[in-house]
Amino acid sequence: MRKPIIAGNWKMNNDIFETEKLMNTLLPLVAGAEAEVVFCPTYLGLQKAVEMAKDSNVGIGGQNMHYEKSGAFTGEVSGEMLKAIGVDYVIIGHSERREYFNETDEAVNKKAIKALSLGITPIVCCGETLAERESGKAEAKIVGQIEAGLKGIEEITKVVVAYEPIWAIGTGKTASKEEANEACGWVRQTIAKMFGEDAAQKVRIQYGGSVNPENVKALMAMENIDGALVGGAALKASFAEIVKF
Ligand code: G3P
Repeated sequence: MRKPIIAGNWKMNNDIFETEKLMNTLLPLVAGAEAEVVFCPTYLGLQKAVEMAKDSNVGIGGQNMHYEKSGAFTGEVSGEMLKAIGVDYVIIGHSERREYFNETDEAVNKKAIKALSLGITPIVCCGETLAERESGKAEAKIVGQIEAGLKGIEEITKVVVAYEPIWAIGTGKTASKEEANEACGWVRQTIAKMFGEDAAQKVRIQYGGSVNPENVKALMAMENIDGALVGGAALKASFAEIVKF
């Protein structure tokens, strides 16, 4: 009942020429995929990517946005600006933004609400550190991030949540399918408490953290996992194998 959604987070990789090249490689390979497919290049690659993905099955997403429309926020890009060039998705609250750019749950919440008001699908990230997992605090961390990040959202079923355990990002160390499913279950239960069971059953929850063509199928077979947010493996032609798991 939930349509799988596979997104590639290109992070700070690929200049405009490399973006064009990767788009040319991937667009034909992912054509016909059953899953919803999203590529998230850097801000500089977005416009080109939107143009190239027109008439394809691929949606284009930003990796961040500001919740204000415009103003004195040096270095920032607003949701309105993303919308103006035809961006339909945006990653919000990635752990790298939280860790290196001090992004708070409050900012995540404002950004998610703003994205929805613009008709942009927010991919809201959550996840625990290794220390939190090892000390039995993973569930509390995730529940807290979801409660604060999704507070007051009206169109909850349009939100996509990405569970990304920080210890599995870029490390080659994937959460086991059971661990990933359990954590995605905590996300769903929290959404159910906040917005009701029906709504929670409609929200798509991705797993992210060293997803690759070899492990994607087993992860996607789990009850609470509806997609993947992919980093390193999204920069290669073999991303198509993930998309067509
Ligand atoms: O947002 C995707 C992500 O953080 C996972 O990265 O390289 O472990 O697939 P990676």
